[in-house]
Amino acid sequence: MRKLLACMAFAILAPMPLLADDDTLDGDPEAGKQKAQEVCASCHGLDGNALVAEYPDLAGQNAPYLVYALKAYKNGLRTGGNAGLMRPQAANLSEQDMANLAAYYSSPESLQTNQTAAGGG
Ligand code: HEC
Repeated sequence: MRKLLACMAFAILAPMPLLADDDTLDGDPEAGKQKAQEVCASCHGLDGNALVAEYPDLAGQNAPYLVYALKAYKNGLRTGGNAGLMRPQAANLSEQDMANLAAYYSSPESLQTNQTAAGGG
């Protein structure tokens, strides 16, 4: 019986590593929003629409791409251009932070331009 259970557990769990790519941490958009407002809004806008034309918009971007880009800055794989501005920002983020931020910026909420909420909390 125990052997059978072990076999069943293996059959159920075995495919999981295939799905659990390191870019697929579940992100919490609410936690991401909070972090975005604290850290990212001064350059990328509260809702991911950049305040300066030279800075990229993040609103509506795909979550896996956002995580990929943040990791690339953190790991020093993105250099040149304005990457020097972005690298210290990404360096402070955990993988969970990245997933949360990606979940927020890829959500419909971040697409709704609402810059007036800036000081409102
Ligand atoms: C000091 C201003 C500044 C702050 C603060 C900042 N960024 Fe950036 N960010 C930039 C600039 C400038 C770029 C473009 C860098 C380049 O040329 O590679 C960028 C690029 C990015 C990119 C890549 C976009 C793309 O299309 O490839 C992502 C993702 C990103 N930032 C996310 C964030 C997040 C999340 C935060 C908050 C934790 C943050 N940024 C905070 C200035 C900033």
